[in-house]
Amino acid sequence: MSGPVGVGLIGSQFVSTIHARSLSHCADARMLAVASPTPGNADRLAREFTIGDSYLDYRQIIDRDDIDMVVIGIPNHLHCQVTCEAAAAGKHIVLEKPMCLTLDEADQMIAACNKHGVKLMYAEELCFTPKYVRMKQLLDEGALGQPTLLKQLEKHDGPHSAHFWDVDRSGGGVAMDMGCHAIQFFRWMLNNAPIKSVYAQMDLQVHTDKTQGDDNALIILEFEGGVTALAEESWSKLGGMDDRAEIYGSKGVAHADLLRGNAIHTYSLPGYGYAVEKAGSTQGWSFTIYEEEWNYGFHQEMAHFVDCVKNDKVPLVTGHDGRAVLEVLFAAYESAASGRKVLLPFTPSKGDKPIDPWLRARKGNA
Ligand SMILES: NC(=O)c1ccc[n+]([C@@H]2O[C@H](COP(=O)([O-])OP(=O)(O)OC[C@H]3O[C@@H](n4cnc5c(N)ncnc54)[C@H](O)[C@@H]3O)[C@@H](O)[C@H]2O)c1
Repeated sequence: MSGPVGVGLIGSQFVSTIHARSLSHCADARMLAVASPTPGNADRLAREFTIGDSYLDYRQIIDRDDIDMVVIGIPNHLHCQVTCEAAAAGKHIVLEKPMCLTLDEADQMIAACNKHGVKLMYAEELCFTPKYVRMKQLLDEGALGQPTLLKQLEKHDGPHSAHFWDVDRSGGGVAMDMGCHAIQFFRWMLNNAPIKSVYAQMDLQVHTDKTQGDDNALIILEFEGGVTALAEESWSKLGGMDDRAEIYGSKGVAHADLLRGNAIHTYSLPGYGYAVEKAGSTQGWSFTIYEEEWNYGFHQEMAHFVDCVKNDKVPLVTGHDGRAVLEVLFAAYESAASGRKVLLPFTPSKGDKPIDPWLRARKGNA
């Protein structure tokens, strides 16, 4: 492709604002349109980032010939439908995590993109996070010896929109929403080594008024070759977003604290505008992040996907990764439901969303 990549944003709120800001730093991308069904929302994003057109219906984006790539940032239950329609219209696709609600949907999405010759790029920003990229270089270079244990955690006090709390639209609670980051982080760190088994402990401890889903989860993966990985996820941790990783190896260890490790340690009596995602109060001590989206790898992620479209390269993270993560999530909920270790490959019951066995088990135990 000779000129810049024409981009359409589908969605206009939390993550789409991050997409827009990230793409605004990418010289090879031209944001041409944004679509979102609530009147005024797409207009707001268009104004903020000087995007030419805003629509209420995403089909107006995928009908345009000058749009090469769509970036999908909408609730999980819509991922499959919009991906398949965009693929049929010949658009390359950047899709937010988690991939979708069922493995059948994931297969349809991959098949649709293959059939229409478009790239399905799975937006897992942790594979682009500068600090974690450096950590992976240490591991790959042998600085830590043979890996034995990997840990990754993401914790905050709960999501910002209703669809995350509604398991019919989200497919699961915190394990689905944030465990998906950790699972792909581990797969990427270990160069897609196969996963043998999954064991998980989950509970709904704090947000019983908001959701039926899990708000705290531990997921243990056993990789072929013997590495263990532990994901810790919470929607009930106060004091702002936490994102950390640890790698233990036979010859070394590396710890990375993504947000606090890079933050200004601030004490403020009156408080101030913004410290970090979901910080809550900024009075007293707080951790003030700077260049948050860059530190998270969103700019690098979008630049990579635009480069893949412009120069026909293979993306670092694809629909196959999204599907593999989803399979692990299914196994994790099954394990939390049954109390036993679940072996991969795992075939969920037909029609189930990831959380369904866990919901059935809780109902049975009530
Ligand atoms: N990578 C990350 O770290 C990250 C962070 C946040 C969210 N996400 C993912 O991004 C997706 C969106 O989350 P969010 O936080 O932006 O949610 P949000 O509630 O802030 O925004 C959702 C957007 O979807 C739009 N939408 C709803 N129905 C639509 C439809 N039929 N057609 C077009 N647009 C529609 C809404 O109008 C809104 O603009 C979710 O899949 C979520 O898991 C990823």
